Amino acid sequence: MRTRVTSFAPATIANVSCGFDIFGFAVNSPGDKVSLKLIDSPGVIINKIYGDNGKLPLQANLNTAGVAAIEFLQKFKPEAGLEIEIFKQMPLGSGMGSSAASAAATLFGLNYMFDNIASEIQLIEFALKAEKVACGSAHADNVAPSLLGGFILIRSYDPLDIVRLHFPKDLFCVLLHSDIEIRTETARKILPEKIKLKDGIAQWGNVAGLVAGLFLEDYKLISRSLNDNIIEPVRSKLIPYFDEVKNKALKSGALGCSISGSGPSIFALCRGNEVAKKVATQMKNVYDAENIESKYYISPVNEQGPKILVE
Ligand code: HSE
Repeated sequence: MRTRVTSFAPATIANVSCGFDIFGFAVNSPGDKVSLKLIDSPGVIINKIYGDNGKLPLQANLNTAGVAAIEFLQKFKPEAGLEIEIFKQMPLGSGMGSSAASAAATLFGLNYMFDNIASEIQLIEFALKAEKVACGSAHADNVAPSLLGGFILIRSYDPLDIVRLHFPKDLFCVLLHSDIEIRTETARKILPEKIKLKDGIAQWGNVAGLVAGLFLEDYKLISRSLNDNIIEPVRSKLIPYFDEVKNKALKSGALGCSISGSGPSIFALCRGNEVAKKVATQMKNVYDAENIESKYYISPVNEQGPKILVE
């Protein structure tokens, strides 16, 4: 058992166009870092949060890292106490899985401290409780890839059934973040409760096509499948110049482009790093021309997931 650890968990792209709440993958950066220290008196204390401009709650039962730690300790070490410092290294409300990354880094670090006492599924279940507190819904398409790395399918929520998908190693992601904040809770409230059967059929075809394309390493099939005719048309209205950015991405060679999680970040999947660099520049140019602050990240799919930085 260790008494101190610093851990990191990556940002994630949830939904991946056609797979609302069921697909997600991790990227190398950005990501969140937490420092954990066991203390003698039971309970979870968040000592300090860096990089959030004072926006996140220090109260453990309202904070995603705090809730994750409370759930873990209640189950495995109710007598233990924990102090947490959180280093937010990505913007809040960005659609990059910020709340999930803090919870995942905390859970991975805690599990390491206690010699991997919890299973992967248990960690995901604790992280889901944290997501529920952070954004009102227990979706796993950020927490699962942040905790496990790779490209993840949530085949079922009840019972939780998580599948690691094969993907081609040359698949690169461009993630463009613009300086506006969209709360996941808000972006979920505007979604329709019912969809037309014909829209469902199109979406199921794309979901199956994307899984097949990833396994077969068939980039053309991946590209044809990166279409969402249910969520994207509704949410893209919240994102300035979404259509322009998407058109630029597709015209400059992206396989597909859509909203990252609940937005406002926009992701594009590309074959190879060189194409990704070109796509990223073209996407950012749209925002530059409109004087909208933005920043892009380029990364292959992150296979490792969370890691221990300091023991
Ligand atoms: N699947 C979730 C949503 C992800 O789109 O609401 C949130 O990041």
